Amino acid sequence: MKKAPSYETAELREVERLIRGRRTIDQYLELPVPEELVREAIDAARWAPNHHVTEPWHFYLLGPECVGQCLDLCQDIVTAKKGPEAGAFKRESWSKKPGWLLMTCRRSPDDELLEREDYAACSAAMQNFMLYLWKAGVGTKWTTGPITRDPRLASIVGFDAEKEFVVGLTWYGYPKLTPEQKRTELGEILTQLP
Ligand SMILES: Cc1cc2nc3c(=O)[nH]c(=O)nc-3n(C[C@H](O)[C@H](O)[C@H](O)COP(=O)(O)O)c2cc1C
Repeated sequence: MKKAPSYETAELREVERLIRGRRTIDQYLELPVPEELVREAIDAARWAPNHHVTEPWHFYLLGPECVGQCLDLCQDIVTAKKGPEAGAFKRESWSKKPGWLLMTCRRSPDDELLEREDYAACSAAMQNFMLYLWKAGVGTKWTTGPITRDPRLASIVGFDAEKEFVVGLTWYGYPKLTPEQKRTELGEILTQLP
């Protein structure tokens, strides 16, 4: 039997550093992210594995006008739940997010397995997107908060909610603050079977 090739390379350690080092970023610098970089990240992201190569994703890059409408919606949602002060506060904090990307996944109402696999593929693509940007020094935050489940979002962004559902709204920008994170011990989530 042949011996497996050595895997201990600088490139592999770099990949590990990238995967481990990416953090969800909540606070961003007031610095625009080059549009070309974001397009490149989307272009690379869709090389995620997807069963039957269905390419189930759609990426929407939100411009200032659309973001303004999302801020209105966010404020409405929070105001209805927690009152006007909380609504205005949330709007103010969301208005500081430099870049807005919405990813949707196509619906397959008659095929539960397909829809599940498509959603999994979209999640892989979202991770690709986030890692690509992280390598370029850009942080992201994937949210599935109430705005992503509000039917009004579809008409703001212009997608057919009967055909697509939201995978996530992802903000991107240069990090102002990078938080620490931890994970449990490997032994707690890994089972080696004989
Ligand atoms: C599907 C999905 C939905 C998420 N939704 C939210 C969210 O609504 N609000 C939020 O603060 N973080 C959200 N996050 C980010 C997680 O909170 C974050 O990944 C987690 O805290 C681990 O931090 P890390 O990404 O820096 O490792 C979401 C992440 C995923 C994968």
